[in-house]
Amino acid sequence: MQKILVLNGPNLNMLGIREPEIYGTGTYRDLVSLIEQEAALLGVSVECFQSNHEGALVDKIQEAYGNVDGIILNPAAYTHTSLAIADAIKAVGIPTVEVHLSDVSKRESYRQISYVRDCCQKTIIGKGFAGYIEALHDLTEKH
Ligand code: DQA
Repeated sequence: MQKILVLNGPNLNMLGIREPEIYGTGTYRDLVSLIEQEAALLGVSVECFQSNHEGALVDKIQEAYGNVDGIILNPAAYTHTSLAIADAIKAVGIPTVEVHLSDVSKRESYRQISYVRDCCQKTIIGKGFAGYIEALHDLTEKH
């Protein structure tokens, strides 16, 4: 069975509370349930992990080496700052799709930079929770 890791960075545990006009009213729990339901339909195994700590995300990416077939990655604010997360993705060489809930291309200039984009096979922005489902389909090649 294919195994997919879903990684969410800082403040995404605050979904539903945090700036709902940008990120929507669904909670992090709602997001995890949606992903788990879709994974069950696709017959793939999924693990969802959220952390507010850069190093914890790097550790999780390293642990995925040899154990995971694909990564769905929303590094949140670390997207725009973290060479460490980008290097970890490059190090493990696992196919990765970058996802952002909001359309970062239409937001502040400092959100236009993504350190992870180059090491991801695809970037999905501005589709809310549906972006994670699209990424799951992309990584499991079942459309
Ligand atoms: C985000 C966009 C980032 O700029 C922001 O820092 C986040 C969430 C998104 O999903 O739209 O925390 O990654």
